Amino acid sequence: MIKDFNFYAPTRVVFGRDSEKEIGKLTVAAGGHKVLLHYGGGSAERSGLLTVVREQLRQAGVGYCELGGVVPNPLLSKVREGIELCRREGVDFILAVGGGSVIDSAKAIGYGVPYDGDVWDFWDGRAVPVACLPIGVVLTIPAAGSEMSSSCVITKDEGLLKRGVNSDLCRCRFAVMNPERTFTLPPYQTAAGATDIMMHTMERYFSKYEDMTLTDAISEALLRTVKDAARAVMHSPTDYRLRAQIMWAGSLAHNDLTECGTEKDFATHRLEHELSALFGVTHGAGLAALWPAWARYVAPRHLSRFVQFAVNVMGVTNDFAHPEETAERGIRAMEDFYREIGMPTTIPELLGRHLTDEEIEVLTDKCSRGGTITVGAMEVLDAEAMRTVYARANA
Ligand code: NZQ
Ligand code: ZN
Repeated sequence: MIKDFNFYAPTRVVFGRDSEKEIGKLTVAAGGHKVLLHYGGGSAERSGLLTVVREQLRQAGVGYCELGGVVPNPLLSKVREGIELCRREGVDFILAVGGGSVIDSAKAIGYGVPYDGDVWDFWDGRAVPVACLPIGVVLTIPAAGSEMSSSCVITKDEGLLKRGVNSDLCRCRFAVMNPERTFTLPPYQTAAGATDIMMHTMERYFSKYEDMTLTDAISEALLRTVKDAARAVMHSPTDYRLRAQIMWAGSLAHNDLTECGTEKDFATHRLEHELSALFGVTHGAGLAALWPAWARYVAPRHLSRFVQFAVNVMGVTNDFAHPEETAERGIRAMEDFYREIGMPTTIPELLGRHLTDEEIEVLTDKCSRGGTITVGAMEVLDAEAMRTVYARANA
């Protein structure tokens, strides 16, 4: 079966060594007169990127104000600060300089400025966004794919509720991507980024819709490319060719291209969001800690897909007589890859300790919203299944 789809990827991508030189022109073309320059905790300042961006805006005659300090797993409190600032300053365009956290914070501010109610209403399910300020991105870390995605993931400070909202309204007008700007990434962030990129495609590849062979081929090529480049870049962090593969893959993995004809599962993501909300861990590392447990839990009922993954992505030899063995070897090969790039494969490896039973209950309760919702699509996980996956990842 092939699932019907509606593919929409409106973001202009300007990719390459001197792409920052386009920022001024792109902002003006997107209608920006007064810009909020939004960024994180200091990497963009230290690298000199923000100096280049400010100069670009000045040269283009665009006014701007600034709000930095976005933390990984971005917080609602910063979003509220941004909304206030934008209203006060008459901001009509947001330029996010950073990764998924800064971009998502920008998207949330973009939703909040034209909205009369409380911006958290969108994550609480009380309202649906109907407008968003236009957003541009200067990407510094390939990982979340937010530069081309319809998704915006925010954590509410009180209660540490981490949730996503999806709408085409927040899709970025442009994304400036210079792989050289990612040379400064620490190995852990590089590895977590590669893990997240691969997972965005795996969450669409592991699907009960198995007949769109073109999408499968694109997905498998993307996964192999990121796997090989991530391994190599650990030894050659300033290799432009490697950084470029990973950066472009990061956008394609989450702009819905690898979902054409298949279906989002995203169970591992939903389980992970509770881990990064509660423990502040890096999202990609949290995914690596959970995926093997999820995979082993669901694989027996979806063997053909796991065999295809093992053979076409992980390079495992197909043992035709024992598909469950081939599938298991594929999962083990993925674990080996995670270890090789410095990612955890279990929760104790992630946190440095085991979760208590009470903590597993809290995670399960939050992920299932008190047992009222399920996650996943290839296989639907209810609260009991979520608890099982958390417990197995905690072994
Ligand atoms: O804050 P600074 O100082 O800039 O440091 C950042 C941050 O500590 C650092 N960094 C970024 N670029 C750098 C750099 N350090 C050195 N050199 C550079 N060039 O990297 C750290 C991580 O940054 P962050 O933006 O948090 O990373 P990422 O892109 O992984 O974003 C993670 C967030 O995105 C969400 C995650 O849940 C998490 O909150 N996601 C968003 C999605 C979306 N909107 O589509 C989908 C994803 O599945 C994900 O859930
Ligand atoms: Zn992700």
